[in-house]
Amino acid sequence: IKKIGVLTSGGDAPGMNAAVRAVTRTAIYNGLKVVGIHEGYQGLLQKDTFELGSRTVGHLIQRGGTLLRSARCKEFETAEGRKKAYDYIQEIGLDGLVVIGGDGTFTGASIFSDEYNIPVIGIPATIDNDIFGTDATIGFDTALNTIVEAVDKIRDTASAHNRLFLIEVMGRDAGFIALRAGIATGAESILLPEFEEYQTKLREYLEQKHKRSKQNGIIIVSEGSKIKAYDIYKEITKEHPEYDVRLSILGHLQRGGSPSAYDRVIASQLGVAAVEALLTDRSNEMVGIRNNQVVYVPLSDSIKEDKALNKNLLRIVDILSI
Ligand code: F6P
Repeated sequence: IKKIGVLTSGGDAPGMNAAVRAVTRTAIYNGLKVVGIHEGYQGLLQKDTFELGSRTVGHLIQRGGTLLRSARCKEFETAEGRKKAYDYIQEIGLDGLVVIGGDGTFTGASIFSDEYNIPVIGIPATIDNDIFGTDATIGFDTALNTIVEAVDKIRDTASAHNRLFLIEVMGRDAGFIALRAGIATGAESILLPEFEEYQTKLREYLEQKHKRSKQNGIIIVSEGSKIKAYDIYKEITKEHPEYDVRLSILGHLQRGGSPSAYDRVIASQLGVAAVEALLTDRSNEMVGIRNNQVVYVPLSDSIKEDKALNKNLLRIVDILSI
């Protein structure tokens, strides 16, 4: 192979830039040309690409967001859209593609790679960490640290005013962020999409704490939780007037900022591994991290299977939130 393309797609995640830098430099180190594709698959449809050099990606490792910009591209979900993308890939002579993103990105990549026999390697990057086959996704660690910093600040004011705070954190369908954020901030209770019984636990908690006249606390609510943070807020206001309750939705601040050291390191490892995978004729796989080792997982598995929450962490929540 002589020339590869790289794109970032879906929700951006801190560390995507570090991965683009690693892909670019590994390709150049191995004598390949590298094309940056703007705004995910959309850049292939709109012919919006440019050549990446080792200096183009200088001072990029520490920057949040993504130099390549990102998008969720509806047209690429259609056969016509993918045909257009393939024609352009042929036109500019790409021999392989590295796609950096989450499950939507990998779903598109998997279909595309099957249809057109173009070698594609995925690098998992999403703050949600909901990709099967890898212990970590790029951006998850940074987002957690951002959340911990924000919740610690909220804790100060919660204690000062003896208030109960509901804090909604991201995680569209999965509670990985909420679970770890809850443990790391010593939250009194956590609501996760995966376990509805935690709603009952929350109600028990509210009863007990009231009896012990402890009315301040932090409850972490995953965005994906069946019961929405605002509905719990209304319920507590109605059923438990003894609590002075406030709601904070952390929102997109969780997606920005300079990547943590951990995210920079895995982004670098995975970027190198992705290009080396293309060089050794691998295709239709994701490079991931398991037990600190780089692993290769078929893209189809990474999107088909649901990654399980760590049961041990759940046990810890129960013990430590008494
Ligand atoms: O997948 C990452 C994520 O941040 C989710 O946690 C969240 O539900 C979603 O993206 C938000 O997407 P958007 O930025 O399009 O509102």
